[in-house]
Formats: sequence, C-alpha cells, structure tokens
Amino acid sequence: MPDNRSSAAPIVVRLSQYTKADQQEILGNGDDPFGVASTGLTWLPKEEHFGIRHKDRLMAHAGLLRLPVAIGDTQTEVVGVGGVAVAPGMQGQGLARLVVTAALEYARTMGPQHALLFCRPPLMPLYQRLGWHPLDGDVLVEQPEGRLVTMPLPTMVTPLRDDARWPSGPVRLFSLPM
Ligand SMILES: CC(C)(COP(=O)(O)OP(=O)(O)OC[C@H]1O[C@@H](n2cnc3c(N)ncnc32)[C@H](O)[C@@H]1OP(=O)(O)O)[C@@H](O)C(=O)NCCC(=O)NCCS
Repeated sequence: MPDNRSSAAPIVVRLSQYTKADQQEILGNGDDPFGVASTGLTWLPKEEHFGIRHKDRLMAHAGLLRLPVAIGDTQTEVVGVGGVAVAPGMQGQGLARLVVTAALEYARTMGPQHALLFCRPPLMPLYQRLGWHPLDGDVLVEQPEGRLVTMPLPTMVTPLRDDARWPSGPVRLFSLPM
C-alpha cells in the first residue's frame, strides 16, 4: 500500500497540556513572540489546547478558556481564545484557519454563546476572514493587584450559536485577559 502520510492533510488534535517549551517549539524563544509586550499586560494561560503536529513537531496551537464577563447589564461568560501560533516556516498555508476553526468547534460545546479574542491591528483581517467581528468601544480587563485597565488591543468576537446576539453596552472581563 502506498504511504501517503507525508502528503496527508494536517490534522488538529486536542493537546492534554501546552507548556512554555511547546510554545517555543512553535514560535522559537524570542522575547515577544506575539508582538504584544509593548502593552505591558499580564495574560492568563489557556485551559484547553488544540494543536497541529507535523513529523512529531508541534507546528500550530490555539488555546481556549471560559471567562466571566459583563456586557452592559448582562453578566455572562465568553470563551476566550488566545495563544494562536503557527511556526514561522509553516505560516501562510492555512494552519491558523484550521486550528482556530477546530478550537471553535469545541468552544461550541463549552456553554458560552460567544468567543472573544484580542489581537494586534494587523491581524484583524485574518480573524475577519475566519468570521470574527471587531467590537466597538472600550473593554476593561483586570491586571495584578486588582487594577482595572482598558485593553489597548482590538477586541473581536464571534457567535458560537446561530441565535446568539451580542448584548449592547460596555464590556468588562472579571479576569486577566487571555
Ligand atoms: C498570525 C498567525 C497565527 C497566522 O497563521 P497562518 O497559518 O499564517 O494563517 P493562515 O494561513 O491560516 O491564514 C488564515 C487566513 O487569514 C489570512 N491571513 C493570514 N495572515 C494574514 C495577515 N497578516 N493579514 C491579513 N490576512 C491574513 C489568510 O489569507 C487566510 O485567509 P484564507 O484562509 O481565507 O485564505 C501566524 O502568523 C503567527 O503565528 N504569528 C505569530 C504569533 C501571533 O502573532 N499570533 C497571533 C495571536 S492573536
């Protein structure tokens, strides 16, 4: 039988853990792999992890966790998406689309009606192509010592159910950002 494994389409798997070493396997050990160090923010680790391996190397990742949030008068939860990463040599081949799509499929089983992420402005078109929408207005997030700060990066959301409607009003995360 022919061995087609090297040309097989990449498969997203749920990872039982995702360590700093795993992240470095994807993005290297630079100081600021996500380009957000200038914000000075402290970020939450994610709780659910999805990855793509190629020849036993981790090549892509997306992480999820549930976050309590207020949107106007509505107290609810969102699924936070973060740590989206694709190895430099594999970028531009649709791996972010694959791993984010698979993570969102799982997010639909987690309960909240929406997923939310923060990204650098140049990445907004990428997420818009994947069906995300930018949120207007400030988003408050927590920081160590109980500080409340306005997120300086764009916020994007996507519904996790067909009938989900984003409530109106200011947004406040009751946690660090992810
Ligand atoms: C951002 C990153 C994850 C993108 O990964 P990628 O595998 O190159 O992205 P994909 O090839 O899956 O692209 C997904 C879609 O977005 C588009 N896209 C990709 N990069 C883009 C960019 N910089 N600007 C606009 N659109 C972009 C692609 O054309 C593609 O659209 P299509 O599927 O409709 O053709 C990758 O560059 C990376 O790991 N960067 C470093 C870490 C980082 O900044 N992560 C972001 C955290 S929010």
